[in-house]
Amino acid sequence: MIQSVRGMRDVLPVEARRLHSVENSVIDVLLSFAYEEVQLPLLEFTELFSRGVGEATDIVEKEMYSLKDRDGDSITLRPEGTAGCVRALQQHGLLYNQTQRVFYRGPMFRYERPQRGRYRQFYQLGAEVFGVAGPDLDAELLYMCAQFWRALGIQSLVQLEINSLGSGASRAAHRAALVDYLTPKSSELDADSQRRLATNPLRILDSKVEATQALLEDAPRMADYLDDASQAHFQNVCRMLTELGIDHTINERLVRGLDYYTDTVFEWTTSSLGAQGTICAGGRYDGLVELLGGRPTPGAGFAMGLERVALLVEQLQDAPAFESGVDVYCCVMATEFQAWAQQMVQKLRDALPETRIRVHAGGGKLKNQLKKADGAKAQWALIIGEDEVAGERITIKPLRGQAPQQTLGVTELIELINKATGD
Ligand code: HAM
Repeated sequence: MIQSVRGMRDVLPVEARRLHSVENSVIDVLLSFAYEEVQLPLLEFTELFSRGVGEATDIVEKEMYSLKDRDGDSITLRPEGTAGCVRALQQHGLLYNQTQRVFYRGPMFRYERPQRGRYRQFYQLGAEVFGVAGPDLDAELLYMCAQFWRALGIQSLVQLEINSLGSGASRAAHRAALVDYLTPKSSELDADSQRRLATNPLRILDSKVEATQALLEDAPRMADYLDDASQAHFQNVCRMLTELGIDHTINERLVRGLDYYTDTVFEWTTSSLGAQGTICAGGRYDGLVELLGGRPTPGAGFAMGLERVALLVEQLQDAPAFESGVDVYCCVMATEFQAWAQQMVQKLRDALPETRIRVHAGGGKLKNQLKKADGAKAQWALIIGEDEVAGERITIKPLRGQAPQQTLGVTELIELINKATGD
């Protein structure tokens, strides 16, 4: 048997229902904040990510699924959604002189080492806002995230970490100071950090290696390099968060793995998922539109890993069970009644859209069909045979509890099922 490609996960029915339910809750909140959906391609030119996300990031250096298409162009399965979102809105003239609040969802691809909560194909739900420069927008994004967690019931399981990277100029000054500080100590750095010292020194700050963290104790602090405007922006974001009742921790070592951020960056984390504890992350990227060829336009947003959020929801005591199965199983006594059965059952489906009704296919004895109904966890069996078709009625047999079997017209049947499921 051919197996799936490593890191590419199959989502089976129960999990698919759980993911859908999480996604729908999040989308309801996004729509209620008047964000609008955009649907973006999975494939983009590789250059969009090397320029947008940054040549020296792990994503671009070693995690992209890139290939040459038949024209010889280098194209890449999107590792994230922000660059493509900028590309799309810019291409359709939706960024100039206007504001946009959009969301997107779908699979992203990164060649990472797979483990629980980390896959090579994973599903992100992200939001991006363009044309709004003020700290009130950063606060709105985080407030909206807080509403997701409230809607999902996981608000007590997540924490917000936030930091400011400052503007381009203050970042460059901090970066230079950091390199000056670390270069004489470079032999004491771990191998990854030594490499990053030349390519992406800020990323050393979030190294997980203890010896490297110890070296960083006295390193130049980002906060000391923020210019007045960045400082004021960050203070305002933090003040608004406090006013909104959103607990947050300032983490000066939070730098993020994508190069486009300026000023505010944040991560929503949980300690309930082990190593893959970041469920949602983002920040401001005021230089990205220009970097990708547009006019200077402020932007900010975030993306959540839907699988991680769903894993967290699953840990709740009262998490919905999402059992797969059917509610009503319709047994058909002979193939010549099959069409009549489907059409009658369709009247029930139309009237009871929440009820899952399956019509038996494949013939067989009533006893065997009832066994299938039981196996599918049905509450009721319907039975359609010669007498039912002749009398335009359907026999209903409760499979759980003591209620008697009856033969009813469609209207009475709808009433009965409605009453029983409406409780
Ligand atoms: P990111 O931090 O790379 O940011 O990814 C956002 C979220 O996607 C992560 O916090 C995590 O929940 C999930 N995620 C990332 N990689 C994986 C993986 N291999 N398996 C499962 N889940 C994963 C971005 O992608 C930015 N585009 C976010 C953003 C939007 N910033 C501004 N706007």
